[in-house]
Amino acid sequence: MLNKLSIIRSRNLWNAPLINKFWKSADMLESEELSKGIQDCVMKIVKKREDKVENGEANSFGNDFLGLLAKAYHDPDKNNRLSMEDLVDECKTFYFAGQDTVNSLLAWMVFLLAIHGDWQEKARREVFEIFGNQIPDSEDISKLKIMTMIIYETLRLYGPSIAMMRRAEREVRLGKLVLPANLDLLVVHSAAHHDPQLWGDEVHLFKPERFAEGIAKAINYNVGAFCPFGLGPRNCVGMNFAITEAKIALSMILQRYTISLSPAYVHSPIPYITVQPQHGIQVILESLHNDA
Ligand code: HEM
Repeated sequence: MLNKLSIIRSRNLWNAPLINKFWKSADMLESEELSKGIQDCVMKIVKKREDKVENGEANSFGNDFLGLLAKAYHDPDKNNRLSMEDLVDECKTFYFAGQDTVNSLLAWMVFLLAIHGDWQEKARREVFEIFGNQIPDSEDISKLKIMTMIIYETLRLYGPSIAMMRRAEREVRLGKLVLPANLDLLVVHSAAHHDPQLWGDEVHLFKPERFAEGIAKAINYNVGAFCPFGLGPRNCVGMNFAITEAKIALSMILQRYTISLSPAYVHSPIPYITVQPQHGIQVILESLHNDA
């Protein structure tokens, strides 16, 4: 539902809100229905937690994120209480920001490793050196240097987020431009990620070795040149979580399979809020273990 909604929203981003007040397109009607469906779904999950507390099965709503939101929704102090709308919005943000982005990153990593067998081999060798056949553990995750380089290069070429919204609170000078107060800006950071002036002539090639000595060296200390997780005080709160999740998932895939690209694959990245493979990514997985 959320994915469908994001596709509809992304193709209607620039529609004038005034027109929408008097006339509703098929997309608007469908997106309203989807929003309602998502709200009902979240409310059902919250209700389950509430029921457990009411029936005495649990003595709190739980310490996870949903539990904290449910607690805030029931706050006895009216001024601190979270509305149901805010609770649903928070769930949508975290579900969307947390799930779709990492899905997209993993998909593009699998694609890039499928067509760059040398890097796939290097990454697999590293995984076996560090974890053997064991499930990756949190302590050793930071030792994955090759994989970190692959993740950064994937984020540069196919970062899930292509742009971030900002508003000029007051008139401000930006280089030769004077931006008036209240101007909405769409900062397309993926443009910097593909700029040959910053990355050289081979900007469009997959070259994880750019990051061999870390991000700062790769970007020549030019902070805006690489910011897949945004910049400033509102940058991504899930950055470390996302990178760890991607490392664990890819390590577990590499421990089990070799990956090659299926002839059925059609290359068509498309920004549906996150950058997604429009026709999916078809790969051939071959088990590394004969017992499969
Ligand atoms: C590869 C994965 C991810 C990418 C590329 C990504 C990218 C971004 C970007 C570009 C922003 C906007 C930052 C800005 O405006 O400066 C953002 C915000 C955010 N991200 Fe992520 N993100 C990822 C994963 C996650 C995960 C796993 C979570 C949660 C578990 C998450 C939660 C959030 C939240 C809550 C915000 C809003 C922060 C705010 O407005 O203060 N993200 N992310």
